[in-house]
Amino acid sequence: MSTALLDVHLTGADADAALRADARAGLTADPKQLPPKWFYDARGSELFEKITELPEYYPTRTERALLLDSVGEIATASGAHTVVELGSGSSYKTRVLLDAFAKAGTLRRYVPQDVSESALRGAMDALEEEYPGLELHGVVGDFTRDLGRLPRGGRRMIAFLGGTIGNLLPDERAAFLAHVRSVLEPGEQLLLGTGLVIDPAVLVPAYDDAAGVTAEFNRNVLRVLNRELGADFDEEAFAHVALWDAENEWIEMRLRAERDMTVTVAELDLTVAFAAGEEMRTEVSAKFRPDGVRAMLVDAGFELTRWWSDRDGRFGLSLGTAL
Ligand code: SAH
Ligand code: TRP
Repeated sequence: MSTALLDVHLTGADADAALRADARAGLTADPKQLPPKWFYDARGSELFEKITELPEYYPTRTERALLLDSVGEIATASGAHTVVELGSGSSYKTRVLLDAFAKAGTLRRYVPQDVSESALRGAMDALEEEYPGLELHGVVGDFTRDLGRLPRGGRRMIAFLGGTIGNLLPDERAAFLAHVRSVLEPGEQLLLGTGLVIDPAVLVPAYDDAAGVTAEFNRNVLRVLNRELGADFDEEAFAHVALWDAENEWIEMRLRAERDMTVTVAELDLTVAFAAGEEMRTEVSAKFRPDGVRAMLVDAGFELTRWWSDRDGRFGLSLGTAL
């Protein structure tokens, strides 16, 4: 019998209203931009999984290896009964954590949270079979808004992996971490994965792969707007752009209009002109320096309890404790 629970904090109607507001604001801004959470419909989540398997996309492999090296210590140090994961996606790497916590004998419950209902359901179906004794409580929600409604109780560790924190802009990032801290009790923990600043010759191809999967993923946001808002983007007329912004220390993903275009967004009663060569920002993926990670955690009210990084300094894993 299934004991898994699924809370929907972001209903179809909420998501629709948020998408409309974001699309209207972003398509009428100068320069145009769209927020990254709209990449992740069912197709977008599948494309992201393909990205994680690409030879150029080192973050998933690197973070998983770091987790394998550190989980024994993390599980002992944390003693958490509940692992909450924000932006959990397929929960692929999380299995490393769940195995170690199960071995340490403390784990009772896993709470995956994601904006993508399809990814969350897929992950929960698989985990239910793989971890029969584990209480599963999935939450469909937006981690920038819905943290206050996460299940409480039990000693918790919140995991935020994949470098997803880098997809928030600096002010959003600080607000997000302060929000995470505010829903934790002193002593509870945050396990945070961060991409680190490295040679752009390695970094850029991770966001611009030879097989073009990332390009498909980037253009997927246009398909979402076409389907959900009756827009008529010709996705093939937009080129994928990934560039390293050395000043902000982030990868910036854009879609570049390859010709002059007029796009209609029927549900918004909106007509949007694109000039040939015009670029619309769809995501940033900020990379960090170890001192910057520490400062961001300390500013939000955490102590940096442990820090792990791979020998090439590509990825960092932090265990923060709420003060
Ligand atoms: N944690 C996984 C997936 C990272 S990709 C990994 O490390 O591989 C980012 C994930 O965050 C996706 O699953 C996406 O659906 C989710 N996501 C993006 N924006 C979100 C938001 N605002 N709220 C909740 N989930 C979000
Ligand atoms: N959190 C992932 C990252 O920044 C998301 C991601 C990977 C992504 N590749 C992408 C987002 C390409 C947009 C386009 O690494």
